[in-house]
Amino acid sequence: MALAVMDTNKRYGLVSRVLHWGMALLFVWQFSGAAARVFLEDTALESFLWGTHRTVGVTLMSLVLLRVLWALINTSRRPPSVSIMAKLGHLALYGLMMAVPTIALIRQYGSGRALDVWGINLMSGFEGERIDWMVNLGGLLHGELGWTLLALIVGHIVMAMLHRKLTNHDVLTRMA
Ligand code: HEM
Ligand code: HEM
Repeated sequence: MALAVMDTNKRYGLVSRVLHWGMALLFVWQFSGAAARVFLEDTALESFLWGTHRTVGVTLMSLVLLRVLWALINTSRRPPSVSIMAKLGHLALYGLMMAVPTIALIRQYGSGRALDVWGINLMSGFEGERIDWMVNLGGLLHGELGWTLLALIVGHIVMAMLHRKLTNHDVLTRMA
């Protein structure tokens, strides 16, 4: 059967899948860059992977906004969650996918430095004192919540595999 554009209660539709797997690839790239920053400091691989962190981060943020909108439009159609834990887990993924880049953008603004993404000037920057609370918020939370998101993603993948192997809810066929 051809894949529908919208979700159905048996499986996710085309748009949800493109968003899910496309963003999954971008997250692999984003976390490889973050890991390179920690483990491969001052190497060519670090500048290659880390060099796109802001651009890919802003791109992911735009995609997650579309994804939230799409999820809302499809709430009544989507495959039902297998458990309350699955529902809460997906909600937490959405929460962190929004919070992590938002906090980074607040810090970026507060630093007074300009931000260009894909040739578009998103922030023009300003002269004078940086805005301390904005910079400190990012310093405190951006990296930490970023790594928390990675841990949750790993848990998400493990749970998808476990559901496939151990229960008769093969959730992978809904998304893959
Ligand atoms: C969903 C998108 C994003 C994810 C998953 C993410 C993840 C991370 C992680 C895990 C770190 C910690 C690296 C370390 O421990 O050294 C980090 C650092 C950083 N990120 Fe992001 N990031 C995202 C978006 C952004 C955006 C949009 C910006 C800027 C506009 C940004 C700017 C930075 C900067 C400047 C650092 C280094 C300072 C720090 O550790 O907080 N990130 N990011
Ligand atoms: C190899 C990697 C991945 C696998 C095997 C995988 C598997 C799945 C499966 C099977 C579902 C459907 C679950 C259900 O119907 O109950 C799903 C949904 C979901 N996944 Fe993943 N996933 C992966 C990566 C990711 C990543 C990187 C994220 C980003 C945070 C993510 C976020 C979500 C969310 C939020 C849902 C709920 C449906 C939606 O709103 O799109 N997944 N995933």
